[in-house]
Amino acid sequence: MKNNIHGDIVVIGAGPGGYAAAFRAADLGKNVILIDRDSELGGVCLNRGCIPSKALLHITKVMDDAASLSRMGVTYDKPKIDINAIRAHKDSIVKQLNTGIAQMAKARKVKTINGLARFISNDQLSVKTNKEDIVVTFDKCIIASGSSSTMIPGVDPDHPSILTSRTALDLVDIPKDLLVIGGGVIGLELGQVYATLGSNVSVVEFLPNLIPGADKDILRPLLRKLKKQFKSIMTSSKVTKVEPHKNGKLDISIESNGKTETKTFDKALVAVGRKPNTDLLNIESTDIKTNNGFLDVDVYQKTNVENIFAIGDICGNPMLAHRATHQGKVAAEVACGHSAAFDVCAIPSVVYTDPEVAWAGLTELEAKEKEISFEKAEFPWAASGRAIAIGANQGKTKLLIDPETKQILGVGIVGPGAGDIISEGMLAMEMGSDAEDVSLTVHPHPTLGETFGMAAEVFEGTITDLYVPKK
Ligand code: NAI
Repeated sequence: MKNNIHGDIVVIGAGPGGYAAAFRAADLGKNVILIDRDSELGGVCLNRGCIPSKALLHITKVMDDAASLSRMGVTYDKPKIDINAIRAHKDSIVKQLNTGIAQMAKARKVKTINGLARFISNDQLSVKTNKEDIVVTFDKCIIASGSSSTMIPGVDPDHPSILTSRTALDLVDIPKDLLVIGGGVIGLELGQVYATLGSNVSVVEFLPNLIPGADKDILRPLLRKLKKQFKSIMTSSKVTKVEPHKNGKLDISIESNGKTETKTFDKALVAVGRKPNTDLLNIESTDIKTNNGFLDVDVYQKTNVENIFAIGDICGNPMLAHRATHQGKVAAEVACGHSAAFDVCAIPSVVYTDPEVAWAGLTELEAKEKEISFEKAEFPWAASGRAIAIGANQGKTKLLIDPETKQILGVGIVGPGAGDIISEGMLAMEMGSDAEDVSLTVHPHPTLGETFGMAAEVFEGTITDLYVPKK
């Protein structure tokens, strides 16, 4: 049949999981086809998620840092904001990385197809491109088709005053009054961007706390800053009605403690979680079993169908790019006949706000819930010369330690660069390091990274940068 092509391995979705899987399989000698409905490679992470949001968060962090220099004797005029130039800068970063991925695909002879892939059977897909319908047959398939934003019932996602994480990054304008619905990672990161650019930002969160998965103590410095930056933070509250005006503004009813109040906002950003993109795949034409829309996989990233693998957001939480990348490599290696498994001891979470918050492994919340015993060692950044020098003395590095083996079970960090510092915690946990290993590792001084070693010294009782009275 015409327009039929065959791949040893076909990957659906070219996000950080999908392109990693495709490139790894190609490097292992397979004929690989990578399909994405977007014309640009890189998925949500690169095109409308992690990377563009970090480009914007960098700008707003430097703006905030510049303003805070007034405490150190340097005062700038109020910044002039050219929103078109900011958008163009962000887009150019995305473009540069898109081009890099496309070049790497070409160098590896990975065939890329721009079109929507839908299953026909356990070994066939139909792909609708701009020009034609193609039938793609495969020996092995890796599903890496990701997730999309969920909406709250009764809200029109196409209304121009309703923003999603995707359209918020388009930075069409800086609304005077912005309501962020959902006080999770996306809501707080983008809320901070808009607040620094000049919006009056209010947040409404359904649960009693913002960022519900993280320990309260490491969130505290962030909450302190958000209370100053945001107009209001409404927790244990929910949006019950969103009514657009003719002039584009939104009347939004918010229920809090049994009372409902209606307020007017210029725009609302809905960031209430993400759902797997399973409905695009015509999965019913395969024998794959779904689980609330997610695809269950084993440690080899295999679905219940022998030759079909799944990785990343479509397999469930946590929906994080670095998890998808690692799973993608495992799936590719197993599909190529190598021995591999996704068997990690922890996956780090990072909120790229200012200050950053990062945690991995056991949290105090989880330990309490599951009655896991632990010992805690903390190093307050108020005792770090480097942190004080840069005005980051509200930060903290915390280790949760196994009382018997003294191995590190969990790490929580808040402060600038927390997302980078936690990498040391990841290595320590993967290597099964105990607190002594970390405390005896020479950390450079003066750095924020040395707070990790110092937290371990607190546990060991060898700390000299703090005075801890003997027990
Ligand atoms: P999220 O799950 O982090 O937060 C959504 C929040 O909305 C939750 O706190 C939830 O309680 C609240 N909520 C749900 N329905 C609500 C309602 N009707 N009214 C008020 N609040 C409501 O989801 P988010 O922020 O949309 O992020 C989606 C995914 O993307 C997450 O899985 C996250 O891991 C990932 N992501 C990760 C980033 C990072 O690692 N820095 C950045 C952006 C996204």
